[in-house]
Amino acid sequence: MKIEKFDVVVVGAGLSGLRAALELSDNYNVAVVSKVHPVRSHSGAAQGGINASLGNTEEGREDSPEKHAYDTVKGSDYLADQDAVMYMCEEAPKIVIELESMGAPFSRLESGLIAQRPFGGAGFPRTCYAGDRTGHTLLHTLYEQCIHKNVQFFDEYFLIDLIKVEEQITGILTLDMGSGELIIFRSGYVILATGGFGRTYKRSTNAIINTGDGVAAAFRVGIPMQDCEFVQFHPTTLYGTNILITEGARGEGGLLYNNKGERFMEDVAPKAKELAPRDIVARAIEIEVKEGRGFEDAYVHLDLTHLGGDRIKERLPGIREISIQFAGVDPIEEPIPVQPGQHYSMGGVGTKYEGDFGETELLGLYAIGETACISVHGANRLGGNSLLETAVFGRYIGRLLLEKGLPNSPAITDVEQGEKDVFNAIEDLLKKWDSNNGKKPVEIRDAMGSILDSKVGVFRTEVELNKAYEQLCELQKEFENVYFPTKETKFNFGLVRTLELRNMLDIAEVTAYSALWRKESRGAHSRIDFPERNDEEFLVHSMVTRTEEGLELEMKPVKLGIFEVMERVY
Ligand code: FUM
Repeated sequence: MKIEKFDVVVVGAGLSGLRAALELSDNYNVAVVSKVHPVRSHSGAAQGGINASLGNTEEGREDSPEKHAYDTVKGSDYLADQDAVMYMCEEAPKIVIELESMGAPFSRLESGLIAQRPFGGAGFPRTCYAGDRTGHTLLHTLYEQCIHKNVQFFDEYFLIDLIKVEEQITGILTLDMGSGELIIFRSGYVILATGGFGRTYKRSTNAIINTGDGVAAAFRVGIPMQDCEFVQFHPTTLYGTNILITEGARGEGGLLYNNKGERFMEDVAPKAKELAPRDIVARAIEIEVKEGRGFEDAYVHLDLTHLGGDRIKERLPGIREISIQFAGVDPIEEPIPVQPGQHYSMGGVGTKYEGDFGETELLGLYAIGETACISVHGANRLGGNSLLETAVFGRYIGRLLLEKGLPNSPAITDVEQGEKDVFNAIEDLLKKWDSNNGKKPVEIRDAMGSILDSKVGVFRTEVELNKAYEQLCELQKEFENVYFPTKETKFNFGLVRTLELRNMLDIAEVTAYSALWRKESRGAHSRIDFPERNDEEFLVHSMVTRTEEGLELEMKPVKLGIFEVMERVY
């Protein structure tokens, strides 16, 4: 059993993981363990930008962190924890300037200041961007900084399980995908930054790697999954492949049309129109299609042609390339066919009510970025706030752990016993998979994606959610008997996909379960049978754990603050 020892292990090398590692690297011995090479992390797919109330544009002069926080809380349908939102929005201008000073090549205004574009649900143009490749740009910037600081990377290591002694984390068990060896990283601090879990759905903008490995590993050691019913469907994904067509395209002036040539968002959100929050725009598109005003019963048009070739080439070059390559449509000449697709997970690893941001009930275990539910997004995230969350809370957690100092470790004999137990359990599981005679993992995965797409989508009902939940429980049983020959473990991607499926099934089950429990409509969770928001009963976070009897849901209060809970009008 090979054991690596570090002060802190960061799992995941996207923006939140890199930013945390960077903060810690001067003082602690830090390892970043990642399933893929860092610059292939899904943060790189974020297109449109990062929000900060810099007030650089003429129209944005009156912007402030408080106005940013207000938009975020309102956009969240009041489910966001307001202390965390305030912190994020206050840090936003500082973090963007910090990224700029690290060398991130943001797009510029004529004045030379960082350019800012309008985004959905925002009262001012506050989204800073690097063309339509902002995530890619920031990821490379932070990776360079980490290399400069000699952060140790373990690329192509898959997180299998967490190791704990009583209620304290002591490390993680990983699969070194190249060698096929099981490797333990022993550490008193583990930061989960493994991204979201959009690949539980089939129609998703997410990278294939987004399988919720950190969320599910935490769940298996008893940490609740929080708010998993809140799945964000991005309104504009490319019809056919569901590649993201950035909200920046609407920020630059793109318009949505149905098959009658009507700009339907004018009726749905008379003020914000195409730049209403994503939940509202996604529902509007689904309704157009359902009521026969879509194209091919599947999509609507996003028209950029009036922006002109020069602007499209300068501000949205990636979108043009994607549209040409994957839909055969040049947006300079023709509208882009778009439909809603899964994009982001507002829920994730449950965090403590009384605790630091990102802290879990397991001593030494923290979660950040899309993995975590610090709940800055509540029931619906505003575009441009996710890159912001990664950088702000990555730095926050780094500073926090430096301040706390290294934790006392449990007795070494207990630590070793914990490692042996987890190691042996996985060896047994691999043997079992090898000797089973059930379905292939791919069949189960395919069924899971179809169930979520069709029954846990933009609009939901009790009947469909019940069916989804029952079918997912059935798939869990089938997975117990999954057949997968595991003998050759070097670069065995079949094995990795099976371990990922183990994670995704738990998350899919919890998603359906909590969506069934939430008998109201709030943010991205839209119940046809309960169309109203119900603050009296449901202005709470859902926290789901697995007990001997099955899934169990507890409620955690929402941290309210200066922004009164109101109706959302756009
Ligand atoms: O539309 C977009 O560019 C996505 C941004 C985001 O999810 O924050």
